[in-house]
Amino acid sequence: MTKSPVYLNEDAEIEVRVTDLANRLTLKEKFKLLTSHGYHRMYTTPPIRRLKIPSFKTTDGPLGAAMHSSGFKKNTRFPATISLAATWNRQLAHDVGVAMGEEVRALGRHVLLAPGINIDRTPLNGRTFEYYSEDPYLTKELAIPLVKGVQSQRITACLKHYAANNQETDRRSSSSEVDERTLHEIYLRAFRATVKEANPWAVMTAYNMINGVFGCEHKYLIRETLMNKWDFDGIVMTDWFASRGKNKTTENCIQAGLTLEMPWPSKYKYSSLQRGISEGRFTEELIDDLVRRNLRVMMRTGLFDSPDNLPKGSRNTEQHQLLARRVAEEGMVLLKNEKNALPLNISNIKRLSEHGPNLMKKFGGFLSGGSSAVNPPYEITPAQGIASKCKGRVRIFPFDSLADVAIVFAGLDHSRGKDSESRDRETLHLDEKQVEKIKWVASNHLRTIVCLIAGSPIAMDEWIDDVEAVLMCWYGGMEAGHAIANVLFGDVNPSGKLPITFPKRLEDSPAHSSGDPRNYPGDDEKRVYYDEGVFVGYRWFDEKNIEPLFPFGFGLSYTTFQLSNIQMDKSTIANINDSLSISIDVTNNGLISGAEVVQVYAHDIQSSVKRPPRELVGFEKIYLQPSESKTVSIKIRGDDLAFYDSSTHDWILESGSIKLLIGNSSRAILFEAEIMVNT
Ligand code: BGC
Repeated sequence: MTKSPVYLNEDAEIEVRVTDLANRLTLKEKFKLLTSHGYHRMYTTPPIRRLKIPSFKTTDGPLGAAMHSSGFKKNTRFPATISLAATWNRQLAHDVGVAMGEEVRALGRHVLLAPGINIDRTPLNGRTFEYYSEDPYLTKELAIPLVKGVQSQRITACLKHYAANNQETDRRSSSSEVDERTLHEIYLRAFRATVKEANPWAVMTAYNMINGVFGCEHKYLIRETLMNKWDFDGIVMTDWFASRGKNKTTENCIQAGLTLEMPWPSKYKYSSLQRGISEGRFTEELIDDLVRRNLRVMMRTGLFDSPDNLPKGSRNTEQHQLLARRVAEEGMVLLKNEKNALPLNISNIKRLSEHGPNLMKKFGGFLSGGSSAVNPPYEITPAQGIASKCKGRVRIFPFDSLADVAIVFAGLDHSRGKDSESRDRETLHLDEKQVEKIKWVASNHLRTIVCLIAGSPIAMDEWIDDVEAVLMCWYGGMEAGHAIANVLFGDVNPSGKLPITFPKRLEDSPAHSSGDPRNYPGDDEKRVYYDEGVFVGYRWFDEKNIEPLFPFGFGLSYTTFQLSNIQMDKSTIANINDSLSISIDVTNNGLISGAEVVQVYAHDIQSSVKRPPRELVGFEKIYLQPSESKTVSIKIRGDDLAFYDSSTHDWILESGSIKLLIGNSSRAILFEAEIMVNT
């Protein structure tokens, strides 16, 4: 039995339902569906009661359902995206996606404004914590399962910020000046792969211009590339208020393919849209295409369906909180561990002294860090985590030169200019007070551990030699304190690997090497020239032979692993769609269980263009009991070996030999194997 009207019939095909509903809309109703409500409801579209079209609701963001956009509700605060990236664990990314989707569903909203997949061009970017990595391969490998997880709950994932949105300084007015190859090979690559492989239902454009055109008006990026080349059929929305200003026009946004203007009508006011059509600047057919995209996504989320047939969702469950803890634990990166200072043995330690500005700090709070702020129902600080671990066993003092160990919780405070949206950091260094504190603690204690709580790289030259161990904790979400205590005391063996290079000095990194404002933060006309081209992140450090403080892919463990017996199922790749498999035996040589990330980098030896010395093309994380060995198999795909050819405006995999470099960090290559591309 078919229900009437067709668009309400859950059994009908989505495209049939979309057509049916689109045919019923008046022109005015179509216009209404292209924008948000207005001032008081900045995250939702207006309902159209005549046709029973409910309001379509979005919420931030990459760390979970944010408070300011979810009806002031407290929700699970997951670790920052960079912490998830440091886990190198695709399954965890998927699980986080599912959990975030469940939270958004339970809140009655339909879109999660995440993930943020911009590439880390400068370590000073205030939003580094919200993004995955400096590497497009790692970014997409984790964004794809996360998007799939979110959308398994019939919640829309929204990739942002499209594209080349790599700094907060002048983010609304600067222009990222990027050549075509670099744009595609570095800055669009993860967007392309995620669109193709995970089919996210929405994309948010960037505030900035890309080669002189604003993200929301960028016909080449939206219509020609995202929609026509990559077959994206969903919503393209502005970033909040991005379309405002006299320097953008209704016509350009419509022609570019912008389907949703947020957070209220500016270019998509009824009168402007009406005038545009009557003056022949765009057609009603074009408006229809944009409206259909929005309706399609509404249908996919089940906006018109009976709640009985939709996932129920859940918020603040123990399962979500334990997942947040697990990500925080797996994402922590042990950077230094001299004389096995860590893990701390709780039976041998009698006195512990703890210090630093982040010891008792909570990072969740209303808009703290910017739009990604999630207010959790509780947040475990490092002090609380250590107290509960040590209860009745170890005495804790604020200062105690007789302590067996001293721990300093240093880092950034996530406020504007210190790892937060809307302003970049000014320096790579910790402030002087913290440096003095670390040095003072180190000179007064036998063993000093520094736990860094921050979402971006920190320079350590002034103090690293004074301390025994450094643990990069990132922003670990609501369970951070427990996770940190578990790693410090060895209940969890750290297995995180850096998703971003830690430079010794700012000048070592690509956007800052020239010291010329044209490369960062922009010239007098706010143009930022990406002169380093494809040599971003470790690609730059390798090409220029610069020793980083800690390289991409690096991270220590409490145990040691041995890699051996490299095998390949074949040694040639026939085309861009072909792939091969490498298998490697990994043995845990130590006395405790742990996990290793085997990484494969490619170096194209015979290429018509200059390519980076190594580029990540595969990885697997493997968990091993003491003395256990397992074989790990890593798939290498032709598509990931290809480069973007600006003369044909397409991806190309050239014939010739490619070296595969296998190891456990970008600078610890243990094996090499040569393969042939025979296209
Ligand atoms: C941010 C977006 C966010 C939006 C809505 C903007 O300031 O750049 O990432 O989703 O606000 O809160």
